[in-house]
Amino acid sequence: MRIGVLTGGGDCPGLNAVIRAVVRKGVAEYGYDFVGFRDGWRGPLERETVPLGIQQVRGILPRGGTILGTSRTNPFKIEGGVERIEATLRDLGLDALIAIGGEDTLGVAKRLYDNGVDVVGVPKTIDNDLAATDYTFGFDTAVNIAMEAIDRLHTTAESHHRAMIVEVMGRHAGWIALHAGMAGGANVILLPEQPFDVGAVCDYVEHRFKTHYSPIIVVAEGATPKEGTMTLQTGEVDAFGHVRLGGIGQLLAEEVEKRTGKESRAVVLGHVQRGGTPTAFDRVLATRFGLAAIDTVHAEAYGQMVALRGTEIVRVPLAEATAELKTVPPERYQEVEVFFG
Ligand code: F6P
Repeated sequence: MRIGVLTGGGDCPGLNAVIRAVVRKGVAEYGYDFVGFRDGWRGPLERETVPLGIQQVRGILPRGGTILGTSRTNPFKIEGGVERIEATLRDLGLDALIAIGGEDTLGVAKRLYDNGVDVVGVPKTIDNDLAATDYTFGFDTAVNIAMEAIDRLHTTAESHHRAMIVEVMGRHAGWIALHAGMAGGANVILLPEQPFDVGAVCDYVEHRFKTHYSPIIVVAEGATPKEGTMTLQTGEVDAFGHVRLGGIGQLLAEEVEKRTGKESRAVVLGHVQRGGTPTAFDRVLATRFGLAAIDTVHAEAYGQMVALRGTEIVRVPLAEATAELKTVPPERYQEVEVFFG
């Protein structure tokens, strides 16, 4: 068999570990050949391929990013896009395609499967917002990077008696903010799922200063104030209709400083959270996903995605994987509120 592999959407640590596991097991155990597609769905659309064999996956386990490149190309937004992908797969003699991506990439994979393409999905995103899997790889690395940043910010904040506002990624889910804030001992955590009261945030800040400590506020990029007036959006929309988020940290810092009179600084962690080497947890999860993905191809269980349920790797229909966003439930937020202020 000959199998195409692509990585789409925002990159995240662990993508190379998946590619390595797919190829290593595919070659060693099943005798398959592989073709790598460049830059997500752009690869099969424009027929841009790279060789993908044992040689190409040597040494990539600890490397962040993706050796295949990625993009947010949406073939369903391009005239004749689906037909072009089908023609590429046919002309290259491919029997199946493994698509590694988040909600958007897997959404395309599902629609292609509905059109008759033999595809298997692997979930990735630092946002951890895919409902069909308990965890996506990349999330643990992002949380650890954010936690380390919070640890470092504690000491400089204390020294200068400042409030520090740390803006983290996560799009419309607050998982990174919740976990990094909890692990880093934040004084307030603000999530997209719970519109916040700026007055209450300032009360926590003042209380923290009264106890002679400096507050760290962790704010998810998608968090919004109750009044609904502080979200900064560039207005730029990608091929999947997502508005680019970011800026809430700076706005909040200005507001906190104005209301409390305490010097407040914003730190935007941004793409640092997506870069660099994956944690052990993410390497293991990504490797197990890769092994399960090639087994899924071998079993010809197309239209499925591999997923983590508890400690087991299972298969779920792609339709289920992309049906809804997994957001932070209110009880997880209530749990951490005891540490606020
Ligand atoms: O989905 C992953 C993610 O990093 C989000 O947390 C963030 O909102 C978005 O991608 C940023 O996308 P880009 O890299 O295109 O700016």
